[in-house]
Amino acid sequence: MLTADDKKLIQAIWDKVQGHQEDFGAEALQRMFITYPPTKTYFPHFDLSPGSDQIRGHGKKVVNALGNAVKSMDNLSQALSELSNLHAYNLRVDPVNFKLLSQCFQVVLAVHLGKEYTPEVHSAFDKFLSAVAAVLAEKYR
Ligand code: HEM
Repeated sequence: MLTADDKKLIQAIWDKVQGHQEDFGAEALQRMFITYPPTKTYFPHFDLSPGSDQIRGHGKKVVNALGNAVKSMDNLSQALSELSNLHAYNLRVDPVNFKLLSQCFQVVLAVHLGKEYTPEVHSAFDKFLSAVAAVLAEKYR
């Protein structure tokens, strides 16, 4: 459960993500592909070489979607409903993978935000990304 303090920390950190959506998203995807190679099987149609246009374009989409989720923290199910349908019914992404991408995104934040990525921020982001992953996985039965 995100507390009021968690929400404030997430919003404050998101201000620092603004303008870096493409870089941060591409880096998170690259970390996921390198650290967890089976995740590449969902992207057979992508050029997965580091910094490819497709990785950058997709990274931007993913981080912008997270930005929308930040704006809708009290209403995640509704805000992410379409993305949830897409991942469950069309893409059939195994939900275990959401945790892997979440973890990689947290490493990106830690690397770029350094000291600002305090344990409290880490905890808040971990809860937020778990909540996003839970919504993205809620259509699987
Ligand atoms: C597509 C967000 C996790 C695989 C997308 C799109 C967004 C998105 C915004 C584009 C939708 C559109 O074009 O309408 C997210 C978020 C995630 C997440 C916020 C978790 C935090 C994952 C994971 C995988 C995955 C873990 C697989 C390992 C895909 C694939 C596509 C896609 C294959 C289609 C790519 C294409 O052909 O352009 N996702 N995603 N997603 N996602 Fe995710």
